[in-house]
Amino acid sequence: MRKTFICGNWKLNHDLETTRATLREMIQKLPSSRDVEVGIAPVTTTLFAACEVAKGSRIHIAAQNVHHAEKGAYTGEVSCAHLRELGVTHVIIGHSERRQYFGETSGEVAQKTRAALDMGLVPIVCIGEQLEDREAGRTMAVIDEQLAPVLDVLHPPDVPTLVIAYEPVWAIGTGKTASAAQAQEVHAHIRAQVRSKFQEAAEQVRIQYGGSVKPSNAKELLAEPDVDGALVGGASLTADSFVGIIEAVS
Ligand code: 13P
Repeated sequence: MRKTFICGNWKLNHDLETTRATLREMIQKLPSSRDVEVGIAPVTTTLFAACEVAKGSRIHIAAQNVHHAEKGAYTGEVSCAHLRELGVTHVIIGHSERRQYFGETSGEVAQKTRAALDMGLVPIVCIGEQLEDREAGRTMAVIDEQLAPVLDVLHPPDVPTLVIAYEPVWAIGTGKTASAAQAQEVHAHIRAQVRSKFQEAAEQVRIQYGGSVKPSNAKELLAEPDVDGALVGGASLTADSFVGIIEAVS
């Protein structure tokens, strides 16, 4: 059985004090049953404080990005080891905003995924098509192009750890959610791609949906057989809406 995994991506939002306060409020309001795994990815400079607040709670702290190298002349970057020593357990890799605004390639996403796995971090690898791709009937081709380099760096024991987030770019921050059927179609395709390389281990890979997930639509999306969780932007910024999503799917 795959454990449902809901992770908030705070992107470039919340200062140090708001990060502490929001996490405290979430910890206090989250339902006690642990049938859903919960994570929050705050801004890099707040990771240390976030790990302190979340210690001993059910919230995992995730980074929003990482560099693949262990150390060296990479000004401005942060390594997996740096994240680990803070208590970070997960890392979002290849978010569409990083691909779009920072030119991150699928090859780099694969390198980062390998580095995260080697350091014992859970990679949340983001893939998803632009609106033009969907309209041109290229959704699955784009998914395959983004996924293949990642699958190429995996060894069979890594497969159950991997989390993939399907985030159609046209649904991010737009209020336009993919329908449950649209999400399921792509999630099933992603799992089939993993299965073609790693056989039954593909059943253990968790595939999150991301794009305008909120308390009112989370249950319907997660009712689909291959939708194993959500990567949540805007609706993860306040405790009430994030906890509302967890409650809706618990
Ligand atoms: P929204 O939930 O704000 O659409 O953002 C989705 C996302 O990009 C999560 O990584």
